[in-house]
Order: sequence, then C-alpha cells, then structure tokens
Amino acid sequence: MGKHFTLDQIPDMTGKVCIVTGGNTGIGKACAFAFAKKNAHIIIASRTPSKALAVVEEIKTETKNELVEFIQLDLLSLASVTKFASEFKAKKLPLHVLLNNAGVMACPFALSEDGYESQFATNHLAHFYLTMQLLPVLEESQPSRVVNVSSWGHNTIYFHGLDLETMNDEAKYTDFISYGRSKAANILFTRELSQRLEQKGVKGVYVNSCHPGTVNSDLMRHSNSIISSIVKAFMISTEDGAITQMYLATSPEIEAQDIRGQYYVPFAVPGSVGRHSMSQENQTKLWDFSEKILHEKVPGYEGAGI
Ligand SMILES: NC(=O)c1ccc[n+]([C@@H]2O[C@H](COP(=O)([O-])OP(=O)(O)OC[C@H]3O[C@@H](n4cnc5c(N)ncnc54)[C@H](OP(=O)(O)O)[C@@H]3O)[C@@H](O)[C@H]2O)c1
Repeated sequence: MGKHFTLDQIPDMTGKVCIVTGGNTGIGKACAFAFAKKNAHIIIASRTPSKALAVVEEIKTETKNELVEFIQLDLLSLASVTKFASEFKAKKLPLHVLLNNAGVMACPFALSEDGYESQFATNHLAHFYLTMQLLPVLEESQPSRVVNVSSWGHNTIYFHGLDLETMNDEAKYTDFISYGRSKAANILFTRELSQRLEQKGVKGVYVNSCHPGTVNSDLMRHSNSIISSIVKAFMISTEDGAITQMYLATSPEIEAQDIRGQYYVPFAVPGSVGRHSMSQENQTKLWDFSEKILHEKVPGYEGAGI
C-alpha cells in the first residue's frame, strides 16, 4: 500500500506541546518518539509511573530532546482525569496536539472506578472528559489538533447498534461488540465536537479520528493466542501504525485542506465510516449520555460548555 505521508514528513514541532495518552507502549510510544524527533514538548499520559518514566528516559536519550515529561493518568478513573488536567494546567503551557490514543481491546467484563463498562470508560468516556477539560487550552493555542484513535473495529456493532443502555449488563456483554461500541464512540465524538466547534466559530481546533492499521502492539493481550499469532503475521509495525495519527496531528495539509471531523485510515487517507458511526442521532445521544455521566460522577462538573 502506498503511503500518502511518512514520519519523515512531520514538520519541525519546536514550541509545540503535545499530549499522548498511552504513550508508554505500542503505537502511542511510536508517536511520542516521532514528536520528540521533531523537537516537540511531549507529555506522556500513562497510568504506570515505572513504565512511563523508563520510556521518558529512552526517548530523551535517543532523540536528545529533553522536553519529554510524564503526568500520571488512569483512564479507568474520572478522578484521575481531573487530577491530570489540573496538573497539566498548572504548568501554564499551551496545548497544540491532544492525541487520544490509549485504549484496551476485548478485555473480560469489568467496570471502571465510576461504574461503567471498562472499554467504554477507557476508550471513550475518560477521553471525552479529558478533551473537555483541555478544550479551553486547545482554543487558546489555536491552531491546535485533537486526534481520537478509533479502529476499523467500530464496524463490529453493524448489526447491534450503539446500544448505550445495556453496556453495564454483564449478561449481555460481548467483548468485541463492546470494543466496537467504544471505537464507534471515538468517531461519533469526533464528528460532534468538530460540529460544535464550528458552530461556536472556533475554526482553529481541528478534530479528527483514525484507524491506525492492524498493528503489532500489546493490544491483543486479551485475545486468544492462536488467533493473535495468525493475525500477527499480517500486522504492520508500530512506526507504520503511527503514520495516520501523526498525519492528522502534524501535517500542514490538515489546515491547508480544512480537514476536520473526518476519519482517516492507513496510510493517511480518508476512510469509510460504518452506518452507526455516521448517525447524527447517535452523535447527539452519545454526547448527552457522556455529559449526564460526568454531571453525576464528577463533583463540580460544569458541563462541556460547547
Ligand atoms: N494495534 C492495533 O492493531 C490497533 C487497531 C485499531 C486501533 N487501535 C487503537 O490504537 C490505540 C493504541 O493501541 P496499541 O495498539 O498501541 O495498544 P497497546 O500497545 O496495548 O497500548 C495501549 C496503551 O493504552 C494504555 N492504557 C490502557 N488502559 C489505560 C488506562 N486505564 N489508563 C491509561 N492508559 C491506559 C496502555 O497502558 P499500559 O501499558 O499501562 O497498559 C498502553 O499505553 C488504541 O486506542 C487502539 O484501540 C489499535
């Protein structure tokens, strides 16, 4: 497959501040390296300090870029998102790229600290809240970008629908459908946020989503070992998996061609979106559902304000 973009084409990022969730391993780590090589100031947002700090040192040593930091973030806890956002804001930095990359796939049924199905909570809800907390900084830092890493797997809900109401019912839980719901949510959130920003007259915050490819990372840690060893034979490297999100995060084409609210696939080309993820009704439903949870679970939450 030809590449519309390569990591070498990332422009110089001196003075740009970028947050990468899940930057300690897999595709997120490849993205953090790619940002660092182009002189960006990077915040690695990960849950396990020992893993993240080792990667911070590895990136600093290999790229000679000292502007690599770690702030702890556990996406299974909305309180942790609150803490992360306030620690980041206390640094009084601008924010040019929020790369919502961290994710889990097809794990056994579990609930987050706040009582929501863990894939939805990690992949969508916490990133929704994180983005809302950081939106004022992204607006002040225009031009800026939000990239929501979705997946082709958003199509697993094709016959099922978004079905937000039953997600916490363990008896109805199917691991890959639940993953698909969370990844459909990434696309729906992207489209809705992009529309709301446009309606507010905010032109310089570009929000897009992507599928990174079928990538040889740790994502299949919960999958059957026979299936994963077969699939691994067809997987691309984490560096190639980083290409599509790094295109959306850094390419001057995003602004020049006014690319917003879109879904891209490898390697940095527009992709087609499943029917449930293109639905305006689902967009609104998901937004209202997410906001309702935050009002209930986050003390003092004032609403997205957009
Ligand atoms: N790999 C693929 O083929 C593929 C295909 C389509 C989409 N994607 C998407 O690409 C993104 C990156 O996945 P990957 O392939 O790089 O997987 P990965 O190697 O498993 O990395 C996932 C990252 O998410 C972090 N994470 C998981 N739960 C978290 C939590 N509660 N709080 C904070 N961080 C958490 C992990 O941290 P720990 O190391 O602490 O667990 C890790 O850094 C995901 O959104 C995934 O859905 C991947």
